[in-house]
Amino acid sequence: MILITGTLALSVFTAVLGSLQFGYNIGVVNAPQKIIEQDYNSTWMERYAEPIPPQTLTSLWSLSVAIFSIGGMLSSFSVGILSEFFGRRKAMLINNVLAFIGGGLMGMSKISRSFEMMILGRFTIGAYCGLASGLVPMYVGEIAPTTLRGALGTLHQLAIVTGILMAQILGLESLLGSEQLWPVLLGVTILPTVLQMTLLPFCPESPRFLYIVRSQEHHAKSALRRLTGRLEVSEDFAEMKEEKRKMDMERKVSIAELFRSPLYQQPIIISILLQLSQQLSGINAIFYYSTDIFKNAGVESPVYATIGAGVVNCAFTIVSLFLVERMGRRTLHMLGLAGMCICAILMTIALTLLETVPSMSYLSIMAIFGFVGFFEVGPGPIPWFFVAELFSQGPRPAAIAVAGCSNWTANFLIGMSFQYVANLCGPYVFLIFALLLLFFLVFTFFRVPETRGKTFDQISATFHRHPQNMMDMDLDMDQGKHSTELDYLGSDGT
Ligand code: GLC
Repeated sequence: MILITGTLALSVFTAVLGSLQFGYNIGVVNAPQKIIEQDYNSTWMERYAEPIPPQTLTSLWSLSVAIFSIGGMLSSFSVGILSEFFGRRKAMLINNVLAFIGGGLMGMSKISRSFEMMILGRFTIGAYCGLASGLVPMYVGEIAPTTLRGALGTLHQLAIVTGILMAQILGLESLLGSEQLWPVLLGVTILPTVLQMTLLPFCPESPRFLYIVRSQEHHAKSALRRLTGRLEVSEDFAEMKEEKRKMDMERKVSIAELFRSPLYQQPIIISILLQLSQQLSGINAIFYYSTDIFKNAGVESPVYATIGAGVVNCAFTIVSLFLVERMGRRTLHMLGLAGMCICAILMTIALTLLETVPSMSYLSIMAIFGFVGFFEVGPGPIPWFFVAELFSQGPRPAAIAVAGCSNWTANFLIGMSFQYVANLCGPYVFLIFALLLLFFLVFTFFRVPETRGKTFDQISATFHRHPQNMMDMDLDMDQGKHSTELDYLGSDGT
């Protein structure tokens, strides 16, 4: 049976072009910081005939970096509304307008001698990425066959890390990170936008959206046929029908309802905590400030060590891609958190002993590479697609909006506060992450269910049961005893 048809591959590829831009814009400001700051300074000189005060320059730069996450925070909240109103595919298409405006503003800011344009551009591209970070996993999760949902979901993260690495490499001074070319480095984000806009019309809308939300049975079936490459789609359709039947019995799920209803409370708390475990692990302290961290750890060529971290990042995301349907989400997430925790402790040891043992700089490189590698095994990719898995069609858009917004808020907090906290705690700063990681590890062990190989309907049935039974389900899966729908219905008492 062919699982991945040309249409499915094209649709996933087209969608994750949005994730590529997300990663690119995370990584792009790291390398050319000093060069862009010089331009801010010369603009200031032209306007006020004096050099920019250092304090003002720091504030302007921090704002240029961090306003990206504010854009993401605000827009991720509207993922639910947009994806329901326009549909998943059209919402992705419309989102590209933001990428054009954002890329254009950043690319033209030097010529226009305006750092305001740069800051506004970063905000707009952040807003694009906030929407992409919700729309892409939602679309991919909905069009993927059950047995490949995790692997295809991981492609969102693979595209993010590829984007980060591309930005790190293109940002080298000998490539686009130079005084003349930095506007091109920032504006080039428009290219994947053009490609996505060209390809999206050839991708089908999510059949789950078409049938369950819009009740367009005919269109849903033809989208299913294109995605599966089969004429006979009654089996897939039956599953959607069951989900629709249940959804029609429920009221429309608002964001407030997610927290009020006992049915959704548990999965929404799990979704938020998984997003927090991703961001509060401290990963973006590395991706925003790695060059500085490596420098403080006594590393000789910090820029290349940063690119090394980017390569490790990509390599381990590929590892996860192959493991996620074999080992399951829960195991990989725990493995990743535990590994990161150990690496954070190693990093603390390396930083503490650096003064007396100079070769500790090697340990810190290894510790950071290990930290990044373990991140991509679980905490990087899994939280993004797990939310789409935990909820059925009705509450899914609202849940993705809440989870996305928690992710971006935590991202913003780490981005803004890491340097201050690092100054305050000195070599012990990674100990804070180690403690947080330990907490998230314990939480995952006790609260997070396995979703591998289950239909959306089966997964949401998990939360109708007593929480303790979640562990029983994992055992069933580990022993290869795939639970049947009847098990769930029976335990539901329905
Ligand atoms: C995840 C995070 C993102 C981070 C990236 C690093 O996608 O959401 O914030 O920068 O992983 O690979």
